[in-house]
Amino acid sequence: MSGFDLVVHGGHVVTPSGVLSIDVGVRDGRIAAIGQLYPDQAAEAIDATGLFVLPGIIDTQVHFREPGATHKEDLETGTRAAVLGGVTAVFEMPNTDPLTLTAADLQAKFDRAKGRAWCDHAFFIGGAAENADELARLERIPGCAGVKVFMGSSTGNLLVEDDATLERIVRNGTRRMAVHAEDEPRLKERRHVADEARHPRAHPLWRDETVCLKATQRLLGFARKHGRRVHVLHVTTAEEMELLAANKDLATVEVTPSHLTLVAPDCYETLGTCAQMNPPVREMRHQNALWRAIAEGVVDVVGSDHAPHTLEEKAKPYPASPSGVPGVQTTLPLLLTAASRGKLSLERVVDLLCHGPQRIYQIAGKGRIARGYDADFALVDLQAWQELKDEDMGTKVKWTPFAGMRVCGVPKVTVVRGKAVMRDGELLGTPQGRPVRFAETISPS
Ligand code: DOR
Repeated sequence: MSGFDLVVHGGHVVTPSGVLSIDVGVRDGRIAAIGQLYPDQAAEAIDATGLFVLPGIIDTQVHFREPGATHKEDLETGTRAAVLGGVTAVFEMPNTDPLTLTAADLQAKFDRAKGRAWCDHAFFIGGAAENADELARLERIPGCAGVKVFMGSSTGNLLVEDDATLERIVRNGTRRMAVHAEDEPRLKERRHVADEARHPRAHPLWRDETVCLKATQRLLGFARKHGRRVHVLHVTTAEEMELLAANKDLATVEVTPSHLTLVAPDCYETLGTCAQMNPPVREMRHQNALWRAIAEGVVDVVGSDHAPHTLEEKAKPYPASPSGVPGVQTTLPLLLTAASRGKLSLERVVDLLCHGPQRIYQIAGKGRIARGYDADFALVDLQAWQELKDEDMGTKVKWTPFAGMRVCGVPKVTVVRGKAVMRDGELLGTPQGRPVRFAETISPS
């Protein structure tokens, strides 16, 4: 068979049938054949000998700060960091300035991304009192990832604190809704804990387990009442995992590599505010519960919650310091390192970073190495070890909470719709990212 634009040959390919030593042929940006192919008949060939070929990572939780805070990150630098880490599609969050609340706000983001995004992208619309009745229409705009709700205040002023507004939002729409579940009334009540302690070690005490559990209970109550599918982002507590395991018919679950890797109280002593994020990094009891939930299949997705702030901003005295840590570039190496230590299988890494996002958000044609799917690949060397360093980070803020950690599973080549955009840490070509397509909003031709 001939006439491919690209053949990736000689690698170990992670397919839905398992890991196969097989070649992948690409035509017009899509996977056209999987089998024994002839690279010399393709316009371009990538020799993947010794490498594993994964579907490109889909990071469904990133904050790229454009518009409004582009001194922290923008769509070019955020997607640059993404492809350096084997990520081929990102879902970007609506707590920008202005907030993403209208069709015009969404369009402005697509316009900004055009010709500047290194990978494919979707944008969430924020759920708020002012647009609650419009959400069923807004969530169906092509390229929109769906609705994101903040039940607890974090960076920016997107917030739904009361039950009446939350219920209006849950009722108005049908797509799976992504939620930051921290209970704002309890956060307000307990704010004195942070103010008095003046050290980030108090972060998980202020934003305690009950803050998260209460919010998730409130959310599930309305989700059940209205039959709405919800996705609970960055789950951090053992208690919520129990509750979510009992509600898997409605709720899907996301955890972050930060919560799977950093542990309280040590991280606050060593990293200070650079470990401060919402919801907080907690102690080992909770981290163990997150890993158990991965092993038991309760967790559907790992998303980075890439939330960059400058080191200058992080140097403000706690709790004036902003919450959030970068992570889009380090997700894949961190999970592959965990796999090398036997914490999970390579197939489960791909399930959490590729198949899971596709399944829960109904992404069209991504997340699997299968014929007809977009030719998005992350080629990784599972033998290579590397130290994570601030200076190797593509993010504008140039730091990572994981600096100094040795990781294996280095992303060597990233391919977006058949075009290699990263090789050995160097970007190739020009930014050609496009909006992600969703099964629920494909328009008739
Ligand atoms: O720590 C966080 N930072 N959690 C969030 O939910 C928002 C994020 C940000 O945008 O900085």
